[in-house]
Amino acid sequence: MAYLNENYLKLKAGYLFPEIGRRVSAFTAAQPEAARRLIRCGIGDVTEALPAASRAAMHAAVDELGDRTTFKGYGPEQGYDFLRTAIAENMFRARGLEVADDEIFVSDGSKCDTGNILDIFGTGNRLGIPDPVYPVYVDTNVMAGNTGEADAAGAYAGIGYLPCHEGNGFMPDVPAAGEPPLDLIYLCSPNNPTGAAVTREKLQAWVEYALRHGSVILFDAAYEAFITDPAIPRSIYEIPGGRECAIEFRSFSKHGGFTGVRCAFTVVPKSLMAGTRDGRKLPLHPLWSRRMTTKFNGASYIVQRGAAALFSEAGKAEVATLIDHYLGNAAVLREAARDAGLTSFGGTDAPYIWVKTPGGLGSWEFFDVMLNKLNVVVTPGAGFGAAGEGFFRISAFNSRANAIEVGRRLREEL
Ligand code: MLT
Repeated sequence: MAYLNENYLKLKAGYLFPEIGRRVSAFTAAQPEAARRLIRCGIGDVTEALPAASRAAMHAAVDELGDRTTFKGYGPEQGYDFLRTAIAENMFRARGLEVADDEIFVSDGSKCDTGNILDIFGTGNRLGIPDPVYPVYVDTNVMAGNTGEADAAGAYAGIGYLPCHEGNGFMPDVPAAGEPPLDLIYLCSPNNPTGAAVTREKLQAWVEYALRHGSVILFDAAYEAFITDPAIPRSIYEIPGGRECAIEFRSFSKHGGFTGVRCAFTVVPKSLMAGTRDGRKLPLHPLWSRRMTTKFNGASYIVQRGAAALFSEAGKAEVATLIDHYLGNAAVLREAARDAGLTSFGGTDAPYIWVKTPGGLGSWEFFDVMLNKLNVVVTPGAGFGAAGEGFFRISAFNSRANAIEVGRRLREEL
């Protein structure tokens, strides 16, 4: 008999967004009339057209593949040089940050990368994971066998949950001196789901902590393009010592409207080391390179051409327009939440608004109110961790007309 990976049996419920999808489908089947005016502000999925610069580049790439003199088969597993250079040049070196082309690993998504990165870490690492946060970090550690069972509240043994609340600006504080040091720390800024962005001071405190303890920070900056406050760091490599303690994840999903196209990248600095059980310190870069060359055959040539075009002058202007559009929606939704008497956070450096449920309702209860009464899909805070209970997330990824209509319903129908 083949044995299955019993770690999967520890997972609580289904992945958050399919569970929301299931509830929405049940609502649609039961109330087809109300479902006609359904507006989806649940999963953060882009709605606006792909930048023309990317579309033109992808059309041209398809034509290249249609001619045997320019045809391409397998590409480099780590990504084509033209894209790695464009990323390193535009997103890092132009901002004075030292990142070499070959420290960039192109992939088909940050969700995959933040999960797959566990392949290059050993077992027994003490994990620090913010709560609430993007559920992929917890679930992939459960799947990898890095945790014990979940308790009644859904907290897994073996995970050091880092609470995020109003008091700490929804960004975790460095553990107090004397607490057992964390080995592997996840930080997500701008944050999914709270919309908070880490300050330079707090990020510096985390980098100093990691350097002191030999920890590795997994810094998820998938929403970096939404940062408007110039004081907020866009990359962990802006912090001195960041190259010695952090891996950074970035994505074109929200940056260039690529959720359906699929392209992202991970930066693994060559100066980043981790330990062996016999006390040696070795670089992680060759391990990730080995992992990618063994388990991945590279993102498609067409897609990588489309991503590189986002760095052309026309592409950059189109990206700026997209980001302005979604941040404009966020402003509309924030104001409406305020007018409806709701307390909300985020939405200025991120496309997410994090809202307290009124009247002490549970977050899934309030999800049902929003679905059944306002016919608006949101994401219940509890889906992002126990500390998300009592909140819900509204995504600003939508048309302006839909954002305005959701605002109206919040003001008039709640
Ligand atoms: C979200 O809604 O949290 C994101 O779209 C999920 C993702 O990026 O995978």
